[in-house]
Amino acid sequence: MERLTIAIDGPAGAGKSTVARRVAQRLGYLYIDTGAMYRALTLAAQRRGVSPHDEDALAKLARALTIAFAPDGDGQRVLLNGEDVTDAIRTPAVTADVSYVARHPLVREAMVEKQRELAKNGGVVMDGRDIGTYVLPKADVKIYLTASIDERALRRQREMEARGYRVDLETVKEEIAKRDRLDSERAVAPLQKAEDARLLDTTGMTVDEVVEEILAACRTRGREGE
Ligand code: CDP
Ligand code: CDP
Repeated sequence: MERLTIAIDGPAGAGKSTVARRVAQRLGYLYIDTGAMYRALTLAAQRRGVSPHDEDALAKLARALTIAFAPDGDGQRVLLNGEDVTDAIRTPAVTADVSYVARHPLVREAMVEKQRELAKNGGVVMDGRDIGTYVLPKADVKIYLTASIDERALRRQREMEARGYRVDLETVKEEIAKRDRLDSERAVAPLQKAEDARLLDTTGMTVDEVVEEILAACRTRGREGE
């Protein structure tokens, strides 16, 4: 069977990583979390004292880094130059800086090159903000996942609590809204629904329901009316 390229975009907490990982498992495809790649770069910059506003230094760092994914049970580990940084890239400090790091054109150029290389053989599910619009514009299936801001904040709060962070719902909501604004308003490859992407509002839907809808879209190759 043909090995498809599947692009999933959307705002923070829409369920992209959870759903993309499950779809990839069901199809036996590779899952590529591009948000984790920007987070890994942000962590590397923080460790070296590189400012999130220093585009040239960040782009140089991005070109020099090796970011890889290793399967791990139901999920996957993120490796930065061979070091397991899966947990280190999810701290509030990385989350606070990542959208500033990701808005520089030269940084994106370096990261997109790595992402296209990872996806070049098909059989991939890639999630992020600009996958359907910019990284993989010819993807066979494009999904734009969203949910209400209240629902997304609740989901993120539960996730943070499961990882041992106590966070107030209003604070999470503000953090998400700020990041969405930065991601949507940046000049290069902003968060935007691709014209040919299928819009899926997951408010009130379970993960299983969302996964099934995406698999159905894959069966019809994402084209409306088929
Ligand atoms: O999981 P969460 O929604 O918190 O975010 P993420 O997918 O890990 O992405 C973290 C940040 O990386 C986003 O807020 C964007 O600033 C940036 N990003 C991006 O600019 N382009 C992508 N394709 C993926 C992520
Ligand atoms: O990657 P993104 O930031 O879009 O979202 P995520 O990191 O996958 O987080 C979404 C959270 O909401 C996870 O804890 C999921 O279990 C949960 N969730 C979901 O993803 N989809 C639903 N329809 C319902 C809940």
